[in-house]
Amino acid sequence: MHNIPTPHNEAKAGEIAKTVLMPGDPLRAKFIADNYLEDVVCFNKVRNMFGYTGTYQGKKVSVMGGGMGMPSIGIYSYELYHFYDVDNIIRIGSAGGIAENIQLRDIVIGMGASTNSSFANQYRLPGTYAPIADFELLRKAVEAADKMNIKTVVGNILSSDTFYDDNEEAMKLWSKMNVLAVEMEAAALYMNAARAGKKALCILTISDHVFTGASLSAEDRQNTFRDMMEIALEIA
Ligand code: ADE
Repeated sequence: MHNIPTPHNEAKAGEIAKTVLMPGDPLRAKFIADNYLEDVVCFNKVRNMFGYTGTYQGKKVSVMGGGMGMPSIGIYSYELYHFYDVDNIIRIGSAGGIAENIQLRDIVIGMGASTNSSFANQYRLPGTYAPIADFELLRKAVEAADKMNIKTVVGNILSSDTFYDDNEEAMKLWSKMNVLAVEMEAAALYMNAARAGKKALCILTISDHVFTGASLSAEDRQNTFRDMMEIALEIA
């Protein structure tokens, strides 16, 4: 076991809240801290993977970047769960739509996270593991979104190891299995949470559509991200 601080996180004991919102981009973590939190303290600057703790409507909450891909979120979420006593990690990110009924700007909540990664090999399971969201967090997110009149689509997502993939058929095959969208982190987060006995949820905004090539403008991105952030903050 490592002690804190870790090679990737310089926070001291008690500096991180029980719930951490985790966008991929550390500058988005800074945006959330600057625009939504009060009494903000920056707890991490290692590798510019900024982490902040503050209060939202009186609740203590942290927000920290998780980087791109399963190795990256795997490291940060493992350390938060095991070394910093974090109970809940809510990933907020972007994804590419692959299901017919999924449009740009839709908010997709990953009930399950299928994956093409070998992350689960470490557990040496005698079968295929199904990474899933924590049901309580999922239910709260859907209820909060309903109350805020924000439409959500809940279902299976794909956590892919590749953004640029040589196999053009692959996404069509996942789509045939009713997988809604592709991103690159949720499965590792869900597995780390399960192994640690902790909770995780992944909320996504559709920023592009894999088959049509459609994508959001920078302004649209900012606005739709706000809805997703507000859902996450509401349940934090
Ligand atoms: N995140 C946003 N769009 C994506 C895509 N098309 N593939 C993987 N991750 C993404």
